[in-house]
Amino acid sequence: MGFNTVAVHGGFKDESKGAVNYPVYLSSTFVQPDTEHEGEYCYTRGNNPTRASVERQVADIEGAKYALATSSGMAATSLVFELLNKGDKVLINDNVYGGTWRFVSNLFEKRGLEYEVVNDLNAYDFSKVDSSVKMVFVETPSNPLLEVTDIRRVVTEAHKKNILVVVDNTFMTAYLQKPLDLGADIVEYSATKYYAGHSDLLAGLVVLNDEEIYKRLKFISNTLGGILDPFDAFLLQRGIKTLGVRMDRHLENTIKIAEYLEGNDAVEEVFYPGLKGHGGYELQKTQAKGAGAVLSFKLNTKDYDLHTFVEKLHIFDFAVSLGGVESLICRPATMTHESYAKELQEKIGITPNLLRLSIGIEDVEDLIEDLDNAFKQSKK
Ligand SMILES: Cc1ncc(COP(=O)(O)O)c(C=O)c1O
Repeated sequence: MGFNTVAVHGGFKDESKGAVNYPVYLSSTFVQPDTEHEGEYCYTRGNNPTRASVERQVADIEGAKYALATSSGMAATSLVFELLNKGDKVLINDNVYGGTWRFVSNLFEKRGLEYEVVNDLNAYDFSKVDSSVKMVFVETPSNPLLEVTDIRRVVTEAHKKNILVVVDNTFMTAYLQKPLDLGADIVEYSATKYYAGHSDLLAGLVVLNDEEIYKRLKFISNTLGGILDPFDAFLLQRGIKTLGVRMDRHLENTIKIAEYLEGNDAVEEVFYPGLKGHGGYELQKTQAKGAGAVLSFKLNTKDYDLHTFVEKLHIFDFAVSLGGVESLICRPATMTHESYAKELQEKIGITPNLLRLSIGIEDVEDLIEDLDNAFKQSKK
């Protein structure tokens, strides 16, 4: 069956009443069969039918055995990091979501964990790592500079050393990229973004095939409690039904905008792996069906005023986040990636004139006109 059919029909069927949408089970607790046995559902922190339904739907679109739905993308990342033990080390690519960086750089030390920031995992020499390295955490394309990491290479090299490969696939979704099929061990998401798709909820997902790791994660999630609530699980399930059609439109709009920006005098550089001139263009095509709908660019601030440019936009909202139907613009240096030290920002290229766009599903002519007007009005 095709992706959209699975997305629309995935999850549980409502056998009792025949509702085409699986109901929201707003119940914290469930009646148990007898004093000796536990029913399928006992307490919502551990399991809830609506959450289980969206977890089934996600596992199905990913072609995976298991999925866990969490209260946010960061809850998914935290859950995955709970697999680590004192003394373990993580390799992490150098431009990841700012919240992931905040976790690693602020909370690892007191947990007795270590990390190594890797500038380019495509060139990284895995033969030199010692046995403390237990996980490699990859976000590809990266955030906000859209660098592409070769998932197959990382998997091959990491597995030689028994290192777990985790991919944050938020920018791609299973519609465009399936890291588990490329050999990764765990895929995680901020489902707040494309999966939910409408900027109206926070959610996270952890997807995997390994039963033993799944059981550990399920135990930890029930223990820590960062689970997705039933109502948001319902909304997430609804969002996923239209993921494929939304992504098609997101992609169609994004390439047109990337090409428009590339030829523009107001723009110093465009970062989008769907453009032929991008260093990761060919690699991206080997591991994903599209380049996604997030792109960044450096404004030519010698001739254009950044604050006026942002102020004069009327369709693009100035806000963090991405993956919703509406187009957004943000400034990573002071917003999504403000947790990076200034020197690190500079080193990896998160400059003050870098702007990140999340391209929505509006009419692309209107989006280009909005950018065009704002460029004209911000010319010094
Ligand atoms: C790539 C990526 N991973 C993880 C997260 C964290 O997700 P959440 O905001 O749902 O906690 C985000 C949020 O922006 C993100 O962009």
